[in-house]
Amino acid sequence: MANASGFFSPPVPRMRRNIQPSIGIFRSGFCFSEGNFRRVVCSSGIEGAEKHVSPSESRLPKLVSKGCKLVGCGSAVPALSVSNDDLAKIVDTSDQWISVRTGIRNRRVISGKESLKNLAVQAARKALEMADFDPNDLDLILMCTSTPEDLFGAAPQVQRELGCRKTPLAYDITAACSGFVLGLVSAACHIRGGGFHNVLVIGADGISRLVDWTDRGTCILFGDAAGAVLVQACDAEEDGLLSFDLHSDGEGGRHLGVPINDNKTSDLLGSNGSVLDFPPKRSSYSCIQMNGQEVFRFAVRCVPQSIESALGKAGLVAASIDWLLLHQANQRIIDAVATRLEFPQEKVISNLANYGNTSAASIPLALDEAVRSGKVKPGHTIATAGFGAGLTWGSAIIRWG
Ligand code: ACO
Repeated sequence: MANASGFFSPPVPRMRRNIQPSIGIFRSGFCFSEGNFRRVVCSSGIEGAEKHVSPSESRLPKLVSKGCKLVGCGSAVPALSVSNDDLAKIVDTSDQWISVRTGIRNRRVISGKESLKNLAVQAARKALEMADFDPNDLDLILMCTSTPEDLFGAAPQVQRELGCRKTPLAYDITAACSGFVLGLVSAACHIRGGGFHNVLVIGADGISRLVDWTDRGTCILFGDAAGAVLVQACDAEEDGLLSFDLHSDGEGGRHLGVPINDNKTSDLLGSNGSVLDFPPKRSSYSCIQMNGQEVFRFAVRCVPQSIESALGKAGLVAASIDWLLLHQANQRIIDAVATRLEFPQEKVISNLANYGNTSAASIPLALDEAVRSGKVKPGHTIATAGFGAGLTWGSAIIRWG
């Protein structure tokens, strides 16, 4: 069976889980303590809108779970495949330069009637199918994206499209290529401290829409995709998020961003306080601006440190981890981090050659392919890390299934 990307998909392992939420205290070392527990109550003030029920007041007993596990994954990519040779027709580059410097050979680009929302929905449906899980039983959808089709947020539209009529809450997380790791940790925090039990984390980005297709320094790197993981509450012994380590540094943000174009509002006010010109002109965002060498240096310095820190918190060493799964930005970054941490090549997951850098989608997309191909099996441990604009970076030690 071929999926949207044309990949061969063996029968999907089903991982139905009947959760038995555990009564108990919060896992130590995390952000929540019993005293800080706050219920999230959602209500709709729109006439005619269906009454949504908060996870803390509804179907499930008001219990706090100690663990959370990853029980389903899915992904989707656009149909249009753009090769290095295709790019060499529009900018001064070559397949050899791109593949040697980055490891990328192809990328997928949203076109025609495709949308990021639909890719996210496809990925989400596959993750729910794998877990044999009814979308209506979701408590929360986290849409990790920096390229929503509506700047005010994409998650509620995905919620609607999935037909989650009882799901009380869906919102976006904007953290570029670190988005999925931050989403995963946020899901765990919601589960461990917020009374949520079933959280869908989607990483989806359409970076091709932000790329300057005349800039050979950036347009060769990016592609579009979506990936999703279902995270469920479980007993502490089954916990699938063993540790994490998260960072941000606004100082380095100047090396990578999509800033708003010159804000004209500075011209509106005269020195004596009088209004010179009103209303302000409409602003727009620029294309991706990146200092590739600085981002490269940042990644190879900070990512191994972050993974080592997460491993330390989990009381583990790299040699005991089954897989290294990094944000897919550049094969040279992946190789440098693997070498630094002494991960052998055969333990490194990489699908960068086929998709390029798909930002928040890259980790769940690679995870999904690795699970469906039988590479990653239930019980396997994975050291994963995201890094990118902000600057933001973070890692998590997870157990699949
Ligand atoms: N084809 C041919 N030549 C090129 C191309 C290209 N596509 N791009 C740049 N060059 C040229 C440059 O002009 C330069 O030429 P010069 O020596 O005559 O001046 C030469 O190649 C070397 O350029 P560098 O920028 O030094 O190349 P580098 O080896 O650093 O590779 C790259 C550039 C691939 C961008 C690399 O720096 C990189 O991958 N950086 C990390 C980017 C990254 O990971 N971004 C993550 C974004 S995550 C997020 O949050 C969105």
